Amino acid sequence: MALLLLLFFMLPLSISASGSGDAFIGVNIGLDISDIPGPTEIVALLKAQSIQHVRLYDADRALLRALAKTGIRVTVSVPNDQLLGIGQSNATAANWVTRNVIAHIPSTNITAICVGSEVLTTLPNAAPILVSAINFIHSALVAANLDQQIKVSSPHSSSIILDSFPPSQAFFNRTWNPVMVPMLKFLQSTGSYLMLNVYPYYDYQQANDAIPLDYALFRPLPPNKEAVDSNTLLHYTNVFDAVVDAAYFAMLDLNFTNIPIMVTESGWPSKGDSSEPDATVDNANTYNSNLIRHVLNNTGTPKHPGIAVSTYIYELYNEDLRSGPFSEKNWGLFYANGEPVYTLHLTGAGNIFANDTTNQTFCVAKSNADPKMLQAALDWACGPGKVDCSPLLQGQTCYEPDNVVSHSTYAFNAYYQKMDKSPGSCDFKGVASITTTDPSHGSCIFPGSHGRKGTRINGTSLAPSNSTSSSCLSQYYYNGGFFTSSLGLVVLFLFAVM
Ligand SMILES: *[C@@H]1O[C@H](CO)[C@@H](O)[C@H](O)[C@H]1NC(C)=O
Ligand SMILES: *[C@@H]1O[C@H](CO)[C@@H](O)[C@H](O)[C@H]1NC(C)=O
Ligand SMILES: *[C@@H]1O[C@H](CO)[C@@H](O)[C@H](O)[C@H]1NC(C)=O
Ligand SMILES: *[C@@H]1O[C@H](CO)[C@@H](O)[C@H](O)[C@H]1NC(C)=O
Ligand SMILES: *[C@@H]1O[C@H](CO)[C@@H](O)[C@H](O)[C@H]1NC(C)=O
Ligand SMILES: *[C@@H]1O[C@H](CO)[C@@H](O)[C@H](O)[C@H]1NC(C)=O
Ligand SMILES: *[C@@H]1O[C@H](CO)[C@@H](O)[C@H](O)[C@H]1NC(C)=O
Ligand SMILES: *[C@@H]1O[C@H](CO)[C@@H](O)[C@H](O)[C@H]1NC(C)=O
Ligand SMILES: *[C@@H]1O[C@H](CO)[C@@H](O)[C@H](O)[C@H]1NC(C)=O
Repeated sequence: MALLLLLFFMLPLSISASGSGDAFIGVNIGLDISDIPGPTEIVALLKAQSIQHVRLYDADRALLRALAKTGIRVTVSVPNDQLLGIGQSNATAANWVTRNVIAHIPSTNITAICVGSEVLTTLPNAAPILVSAINFIHSALVAANLDQQIKVSSPHSSSIILDSFPPSQAFFNRTWNPVMVPMLKFLQSTGSYLMLNVYPYYDYQQANDAIPLDYALFRPLPPNKEAVDSNTLLHYTNVFDAVVDAAYFAMLDLNFTNIPIMVTESGWPSKGDSSEPDATVDNANTYNSNLIRHVLNNTGTPKHPGIAVSTYIYELYNEDLRSGPFSEKNWGLFYANGEPVYTLHLTGAGNIFANDTTNQTFCVAKSNADPKMLQAALDWACGPGKVDCSPLLQGQTCYEPDNVVSHSTYAFNAYYQKMDKSPGSCDFKGVASITTTDPSHGSCIFPGSHGRKGTRINGTSLAPSNSTSSSCLSQYYYNGGFFTSSLGLVVLFLFAVM
């Protein structure tokens, strides 16, 4: 890897490129999760976090329905296992588009179709039919007059780009020219994007110390560590830009100059095994926060400054069922229950991961939970959990509404805040969930509330409700000193895995 670590040197360059517009940040939704969140929960999380762009790895009907009328832009995918059929038959392709796209338009705003995923590197035997598959899908969109609003492309691994440092020498692995040339022609003639998965985490890992960690994480580098491309004298401050520019140069190598790039995946794992010491919460937070800021600032790259490179973060949820190294399961921004894995450092970075939600979260009772489960959890929180439940006493600020959902919401949240929102502290055997909506009401101010109410963030469906009627549920934490130790022990046992 010929990473050039030269002295600070800069030359003003003026490279013009067409096709601008504002870059956006989207999020990938992979659902290889044992405790899989339902479509409503997923959409509630997206709304609470002001996430406006998502990419799915398939075209799940229930999720596409839940995304209807939300304003969220959706990229759907032809999974690799359906690619051969679609690439061999325009009728199969047309049928796929009818069932998975036309059936949902316009209420669900589908804006792009990814045909396969990293096909050249993961499913090379399908490479010969990849361009046919793309063309067949596109023809079906043309027939439905949807080709202007829905772009078709196929995400590639950045490993198909060879010699990517320095970027100006990059080219696509020539083995794939018979696929890349017609594909780039297609992208050019239809105004679509080159879709690229960019993983500085792996570039860094595989570079054996040739790449400084700070360079991978978008952290400032001392001038003598910055990378300068000796051919172009372009000056690189991070791996992400270098990879995107390598892709522009690889297209240039095939004489394509005006195809924009969309990064379909980028991220950093927050946890790994002992052989993956850089998969940490700190690094993941730094990478993703800096990436989001970089993209939304419309910084572009050194080769094409100011040209939008919209990017989908990999990924919304940790996917515990994914195989491979331990880090594979830990790329998510959220746990399956909607609890953030970490709080992005994003003040002032636009709408996505809106301020209030990044560090103001609350724990609430699920309104549809079994009242007996809620009561047991409430007993635990006010007893062994050592939450101050006195505001729930009759006549106190949070007594009304007097029902188990409302009272347990208060107690769950107080516990969650007391535990500094640590992972697992808002579960209560599955009857609690995280929300970004402040449940405070009237004079009942919840712990963790900044005192503001009715923030611009819309509520999730998880907000407390008074619909679960309950009677005589109030004696459990009165009686002077909470409840007997034997009951406490049973409940403690029940909730020991929180
Ligand atoms: C498929 O291709 C055949 C021949 O090229 C054409 O006659 C037919 O109309 C196409 N069908 C669809 C559904 O596009
Ligand atoms: C769908 O998304 C596109 C692209 O962002 C946007 O231009 C269009 O207005 C959206 N349509 C609706 C109905 O929201
Ligand atoms: C180029 O792609 C071919 C086919 O996948 C692969 O065998 C070869 O190793 C690649 N070349 C490089 C230098 O990675
Ligand atoms: C790109 O264009 C140049 C100049 O027109 C030409 O010499 C070269 O063969 C072209 N390369 C490819 C891969 O088409
Ligand atoms: C934002 O963009 C401006 C130029 O458009 C640039 O000077 C600045 O460094 C960028 N900030 C970040 C955080 O990328
Ligand atoms: C985020 O917070 C900062 C400082 O509190 C504020 O200036 C900015 O407007 C907020 N952004 C959003 C989207 O609320
Ligand atoms: C939440 O954000 C505000 C404003 O950016 C900041 O002052 C506060 O320290 C943050 N709190 C936490 C717990 O991160
Ligand atoms: C309970 O819900 C009903 C109907 O949804 C509403 O009219 C009432 O004001 C609510 N009571 C409280 C105390 O929130
Ligand atoms: C929340 O969304 C509902 C329905 O989409 C809307 O009627 C309501 O005004 C929104 N509330 C806030 C605070 O934005």
